[in-house]
Amino acid sequence: ASALRLGVAGLGTVGASLVRLLTKNGAALARKCGRPVVLTAVSARDRTRDRGVDLSGFTWFDDPVELARSGEIDVFVELIGGASGPAEASVRAAIASGKHVVTANKALLARHGVELAGLAERAGVSLNYEAAVAGGIPIVKTLREAMAGNSVARVYGILNGTCNYILTRMEREGLSFAECLADAQRLGYAEADPTFDIEGNDTAHKLALLTSLAFGCKISADDIYLEGITSITTADIRAADELGYRIKLLGVAQKTDSGIEQRVHPTMVPKSSAIARIDGVLNAVAVDGDFVGEIVLVGPGAGGDATASSVASDIADIARGDVAPALGSPSDELVDYTRAGMRRH
Ligand code: NDP
Ligand code: HSE
Repeated sequence: ASALRLGVAGLGTVGASLVRLLTKNGAALARKCGRPVVLTAVSARDRTRDRGVDLSGFTWFDDPVELARSGEIDVFVELIGGASGPAEASVRAAIASGKHVVTANKALLARHGVELAGLAERAGVSLNYEAAVAGGIPIVKTLREAMAGNSVARVYGILNGTCNYILTRMEREGLSFAECLADAQRLGYAEADPTFDIEGNDTAHKLALLTSLAFGCKISADDIYLEGITSITTADIRAADELGYRIKLLGVAQKTDSGIEQRVHPTMVPKSSAIARIDGVLNAVAVDGDFVGEIVLVGPGAGGDATASSVASDIADIARGDVAPALGSPSDELVDYTRAGMRRH
């Protein structure tokens, strides 16, 4: 079979890890897919920066849009970030020029996902985003594939590694919010603008994608009740502890009589519950299906290597020729629960 040629735009925390993964495991990945998978071209802002990976064998593009349009690639891997700007422009350019797209960018998908999914569907290309929700946890494939035979009543969980890392270290080590956030940034867990993490927007972006996949409705991040962790103090955490609880930032989407309710807020969870024991950068996602019952997936929710693992799984799907609709409801005839009564709490 012909080689699947990859172009990676963004060589920061996730992009550099993906280059390392492909260097180390690319040949084995290709064997598993029955087709050579080769990285041919890359793009980032600063050509001179040492990223700890050897980029000498790849064509360099200063402009990710040019990479997206390049005849040297079949798959455009967007790891730049941001709901607009170069990430949006390059993903649009890639779809318009018939390239499959893999992205970890939940902010982009939460804002433009319905439109981009439609464009990809009409262009006959994949738009894959396993890494956009809960880092290394394969929750997108779980909802799309493994849960396909179920009607989902509820999906919820800890969806932001940075917030869980901060809350865990504040509790265990008595450190200040600011110290913990600085460490999360140093470790590559936080968004380029960490207010997206701590104010809950990142969790809301991920929840909106999960809601679409779980309930077959369109993405509607703007309708999510949103409260982050910026006002949580060590005193709050201690008070919860004395009462037998831990504080976790949860994203919850569930069916109600009036539609799908979506909310993101700090929650007191009993210490005896499974979710209370999810520590540090780990995430957990629970899904209630009518036939399977509740399943819970736990794993690293952020960090370059864990996220690159999910990106690689999307590349493998494309190499195998598995093309799934990008979202729960890319076409108009499916039920749009958001119009049928999304509500605030
Ligand atoms: P970083 O900020 O570490 O990296 C961003 C990269 O994009 C950098 O290499 C930067 O170039 C490049 N870039 C920025 N602007 C441009 C531009 N105009 N043209 C070309 N390249 C550009 O981000 P992350 O790797 O942490 O995140 C990437 C994506 O993955 C984001 O969407 C994020 O939300 C998502 N994600 C991140 C996770 C994580 O744990 N970090 C987990 C899951 C998803 P340069 O290096 O030259 O400055
Ligand atoms: N900033 C995000 C987090 C990255 O901390 O969960 C993973 O999406």
